[in-house]
Amino acid sequence: MAIEPELRRWDALFAARTRGGAGEGLLEILALAGAQDVISLAGGFPDPATFPGTIVAEILRELAESGDASPFQYAPTDGLPGPRDYVAGRLEREGRRPGEGELMLTSGAIEALELLGKALVDKGDRVLVEAPTYLGAIMAFQSFEAQVEGVPVDEDGLAVDELERLLAAGPAPKLLYTIPDFQNPAGVTLSGERREALVELARRHGLLVIEDLAYRDLHFGGERPPTLFSLAPDVVLQAGTFSKTFFPGVRLGWAAGPAELVSKLVWAKQNTDQCAGALGQRLLEEYGRRGYLDEQIVRARKIYRSRRDTAMGALEHHIGGRATWTRPEGGFFTWLELADDGVAVARRALEAGVAIVPGRPFFAGAGGESNIRISYSQASEERIEDGIARLGPLLNG
Ligand SMILES: Cc1ncc(COP(=O)(O)O)c(C=O)c1O
Repeated sequence: MAIEPELRRWDALFAARTRGGAGEGLLEILALAGAQDVISLAGGFPDPATFPGTIVAEILRELAESGDASPFQYAPTDGLPGPRDYVAGRLEREGRRPGEGELMLTSGAIEALELLGKALVDKGDRVLVEAPTYLGAIMAFQSFEAQVEGVPVDEDGLAVDELERLLAAGPAPKLLYTIPDFQNPAGVTLSGERREALVELARRHGLLVIEDLAYRDLHFGGERPPTLFSLAPDVVLQAGTFSKTFFPGVRLGWAAGPAELVSKLVWAKQNTDQCAGALGQRLLEEYGRRGYLDEQIVRARKIYRSRRDTAMGALEHHIGGRATWTRPEGGFFTWLELADDGVAVARRALEAGVAIVPGRPFFAGAGGESNIRISYSQASEERIEDGIARLGPLLNG
């Protein structure tokens, strides 16, 4: 049977930009983290208990019976006017309504990053991300052969003074990607003071800042500093998503920023998927305009806040004194600093029936060896407690 050589032949056809990897050991752990028979504190998935249910069925029926073909037809590349207006209204509540040409709908936030890569990044371009950051963003920029470099993060979010040092050292980066609210994976939030400093620095250096808003709506009640887009729409492009608030199956997000840039992203989208799904756009609009999305978000916040509390209590009880961790004020994640190797702990945890993600893949460069990320978004409180209890005996320190 000549199957293996055949496979190797296709392998040889892969473009150079696809050959980078997260490392064999890490891939193995990430794959196992999705296993069914473990307590998963690994993925960044929203809890299905927050999903809309039968209201969506009613709206679908209405759309089908209305005689309006738009939900079933191709849509304009930047989105249908009604859904775009609805999203613009949501951004207005956050301090700034995008002007003419400043907003497009995308197939999730990850697509906005992909379009940015396609429209802006040439091979070897410097792209700055947080260290640690969302793995999907590292992969998106690396797939366009960017030189992705990390800027440290502490409990107040991105270290803006470190960014200033990196900018001074040159060469000028194409962009900086940041997740200011309840960051993935660290759970930290960029302070108001640093937001002001960041946009001031960006203006001084002509730096494009990409603000990823993935978890902002899922806050646990505290004051939230303003969005970067509302502070500086001249230097900020915001990428948002309805994956964590409506449901990820709809694959819907947005990009809002300077019109010249948005029009280039629209250009890039024409030959990826051409337009975000019209049916999802109209579903979101109807669900949102009738007030259901806001109600869903309120319910989701309660669920995730309570799980955060359970996770914090369990960490203190089972791991206290042997590791440190962040206390997220929203979102899905806490980030642990251990006295152990994160990959080794993740392996031992899997043997004990718990999936967590080691810190390493969240760094574009060195870092994360002694970190793990714990997600409390999907497991029940009982399983969070049990999962963290099982981690306790696995740690040194
Ligand atoms: C920070 C961040 N941005 C974007 C995404 C992906 O969003 P979407 O489902 O809209 O592509 C995620 C999902 O895990 C995320 O954590």
